[in-house]
Formats: sequence, structure tokens, C-alpha cells
Amino acid sequence: MKSFPVRRLPSCIVHLAISLERSAVACALFAILLVGFTHNASAQRKQPERSIPNLYSNFCSACHGINMGGGQTEGFLDDTWNVGNDDAKIAEAIRVGNTNKGMIAFGGALSEAEIRGMVVYIRETIQKAKNQTGNFAKPVDGEVVASQDHKFRFKMVASGLTMPWSMAFLPDGRMLVAERSGSLRVIEQGKLLTNAIVGTPQVRAQGQGGLMEVVPHPGFATNGWIYLSFSDGGSNAMGADVSMTAIVRGRIRDGKWVDEQTIFRAPIDTYLSTSHHFGNRIVFDGLGYLFFSIGDRGQMENAQDITLPNGKIHRLHEDGRIPVDNPFVKTNRAFASIWSFGQRNPQGLAIHPVTGELWETEHGPRGGDELNLIRPGLNFGWPVICYGINYNGLPITEGLTAKEGMEQPVIHWTPSIAVCGIDFYTGSRFPKWKTNLFVTGLASQELRRLVIEGHAVKHQEIVFKNVGRIRDVANGPDGYLYVVMNGPDQIVRLEPTE
Ligand code: HEC
Repeated sequence: MKSFPVRRLPSCIVHLAISLERSAVACALFAILLVGFTHNASAQRKQPERSIPNLYSNFCSACHGINMGGGQTEGFLDDTWNVGNDDAKIAEAIRVGNTNKGMIAFGGALSEAEIRGMVVYIRETIQKAKNQTGNFAKPVDGEVVASQDHKFRFKMVASGLTMPWSMAFLPDGRMLVAERSGSLRVIEQGKLLTNAIVGTPQVRAQGQGGLMEVVPHPGFATNGWIYLSFSDGGSNAMGADVSMTAIVRGRIRDGKWVDEQTIFRAPIDTYLSTSHHFGNRIVFDGLGYLFFSIGDRGQMENAQDITLPNGKIHRLHEDGRIPVDNPFVKTNRAFASIWSFGQRNPQGLAIHPVTGELWETEHGPRGGDELNLIRPGLNFGWPVICYGINYNGLPITEGLTAKEGMEQPVIHWTPSIAVCGIDFYTGSRFPKWKTNLFVTGLASQELRRLVIEGHAVKHQEIVFKNVGRIRDVANGPDGYLYVVMNGPDQIVRLEPTE
């Protein structure tokens, strides 16, 4: 209370106190009001006193501007950096300052975690400003968009869906759509059929759980298998309501889900009562294996524990058997399907069409969304290392971004774009997009195109933005690029116009 700044008091109280300054009664009244007011204010103030925005406004705004648009010196909103556009260099600039230019060293005044938080906060503020002023394509149905390499038309394929989370194409031209509620819907000759497939698994549609993924087997034309991943509910030994990601396969016959087999179901004692971070994507590598992801289920420390299924990428044979050459098959008590670990919430998986390598995207906390190149047995670091910070502005665990024995992301997005489904473009309708990685963003409402050379991202383009949360992207068998969107709930495709 000692440091409580008088200027934050309502001016009427200050004026009252000043005008009756010499009256002892008024002093007592003032003290009571002050106690009452500060008590209230601190109860209402959710942010701690040293929240990053407070620190910025106290220490930085005089020179860099209240909104980072510039004050006594340059602001940050132009996103050009004399020290170099790199989180570590910006942190260094804050830590050591620049005496020649008049930038003060904040190394002592701010903790390392606060400096990292400041970098995230600066990045977030720039992003918000760009979103407001940026000149992004915001297409509507039928509209032509001129992107960097191709002109395309934005074409509505299906509406009338409720929270579509995944789509798949069957060789006979039908499309399947997984809705969060558990409904598996069919689009036939461009029409969304009214009735969902009957008899698909019961899903726990709560929070981020539901029917998450639908993928036909690569040999669907001959074997008819369709794979589904979903949040499977149950009750554990204590009788608590719990859930975990599970995978089944089955066939569709006369509008019914039949021949169901369990491909992956974790032991019930690993199920959790949380309703977030399920993952989940399934990809086939075409060599007899399927990969899938499970998020940390909101128990971040579990991601480092290889005896548990959550916070991992898994690999199985297509019938659910565990491959004998999986990295932890011989490790005592390890979960044998684990392929890699230290993942937070991976909602994007794709196999590179040329190299066959497995690429993954995962949601970071506040900042630190990642694009990773997955290799067997490796530790991707969550929650020990991460480029994001906690939602309350505090560091995650030790606040490290790198550590021996833990993998770095190929790139990270800070601030978060809320990265979701990904796919490499393999069609021939957009020749200049061949093997580019398309990346969806939920919160950022954007479709990104990444040009990848070897293991590096050479270029990024925001293809369009602000037309809804983008959940998934996929190649159609017709060579068009399909996009699943939430709010509005629809599937659109991009068709070239040249
Ligand atoms: C007394 C004025 C002053 C204050 C206070 C101040 N800065 Fe600076 N800052 C400067 C000047 C001047 C520069 C150099 C501008 C240039 O590079 O031309 C600078 C540079 C920087 C840079 C590098 C910019 C670039 O383009 O590379 C960063 C980052 C930065 N400041 C962050 C902060 C943060 C964060 C705070 C608060 C914790 C802060 N500054 C407080 C004056 C100030």
C-alpha cells in the first residue's frame, strides 16, 4: 500500500481530501477511503503489480510510446530492428541497452523472465497492430484473390456443418467430415447428406475434445478402412469422469459404421479429467505405419514422462500393433507406441511428399507455437524449454528456450497463431505451390504458405486472413486445396483462375 500512487485515486476523493486538508476528520475519512479503495483495487486487479504491460508502461513507454508507436525515440510497430529481428537479440538489447544511442540497460531492473515476457509482449503488440492495419486478403465466396504466386478463387464447398474438425476424400468422389459432436457426415456430389453415419463411436465432446480426425487408409479402395480419432470417455478406479484420445477403424456400409476395431486405446488409469489438449492428427506414411499425436492433456510435466501416452507422437502398424523397432520398445515401463516426446498440443501432422519426413505443428502457450521435424526417440522439450510464456505473463517452468538433449523447433510463431492442421501441397493445379507446406491458424484466422528448403523455412505468406478460425487444410484428389473453417462453419476450396 505504501507505493500506491495517489494519482490513481478517483479525482473527487483527492479533491475532497485536499480541500479539507487541515481537518483531522477529513484525514481520518481519507485514510478509511484510501484503505477501502486500495483493498478493492488490488482485489479487482488480476495482473500482479509487475505484470509485463505495467512494466512496459512504467519503464519503456516514455521513450518507445504508450502503444509502441514511438515517443522520444523509435517505436516497434514497424517491426524493423536495428539489433536484428531475433528474439534473443531483442532480449539482449533490453538487457544491456545501448549507451551511445540512449537506450538504458534493464538487466538489473528486470529479471530474465521479465525480459523474455517483454519480448513476447512487444511481438504481440506488433501483431495486433498489423492485424488492424495489414492489407490481407479477406475473401468471400466466389471472390478472386491474387496471392504472391497464384491467383485463386475462394469457393464454398459445404456449409450447414456444425464444428467440422476434419475432412477426408474417398476415391468414389464422396467426402467425409468429422464434426466435434461425434457426427461423421457425408458430402455426396456436392451435397451434404442430412443423416450422419449411424453407429460411430461415442465421443466425449467437451472442451477441446470430440471427434477429431477422419482418415481413410491409403489402400481404402481395396480394404475400405476408415480411421477415426476421438476423445474417449470413461470412469476410472476412483469413479471419476475421465477421457483420453483413442483411435478406431471401421467401414461404412449402407450409411452405417461397421466392422469396428480398436487401433489405440490407452489404459484407463492414464485417462484424465481435463478436457483440453487431446491433439490429435493421424497420418499414414504409406509404408505400413500410422503416426498420431496426443496433447499433454493439460498436465505439462507428463510430456516428459515416457511411461504416459500424453504429450507424445506415437507410431503403430496400421492394424494397431506396436512396431518392434519403435524407440522405447525395450525401455522398462515405457509406453511402447511412443515415437517422440516433449510435445504440448500437436494438432498438425504431415508427411513430406518427397523426403517422407514427418512434420508436426503444436500449440504453444502464449507464444511459442512450433513447427517441428519429428524423428524417433527425440525429446521436443515441453515444458522444460519453450519460446512462449504462461498466459499470466510468467515464465513456463524455468523459462528456458534451449537445453542440451532437447530439440529446437524448425521455427516458432511468437505471438501464437494457434497453429492447427497442416498439409504439403501435392496437386498440379497450383504448380508454384508444389510441396509448399500449408499451415492453418485458429486464433489468427489465417492460412499460411511456407516454402521449405531442406529443413529450413525460406519464406512465409499469409494467403488469406480474418474469414474464420481455420482448422484444417488438405489436398483434394482434384488438385484443389481444401480448407475446413469454424465460425462460420464451412469447407471451402481454392481454385486457380489462370
Ligand atoms: C530513455 C529512453 C528509453 C527508455 C526508457 C527505453 N528505451 Fe529502448 N531504446 C531507446 C533508444 C534511444 C534506442 C535506440 C533506438 C535505435 O536503435 O535507433 C532504444 C532501443 C531499444 C530496442 C532495440 C530496437 C531496435 O530497433 O533494434 C529495444 C528492443 C528496446 N529499446 C526496448 C526497450 C524496452 C523493452 C524498454 C523498457 C524496459 C526500453 N527500451 C526503454 C530509448 C529508450
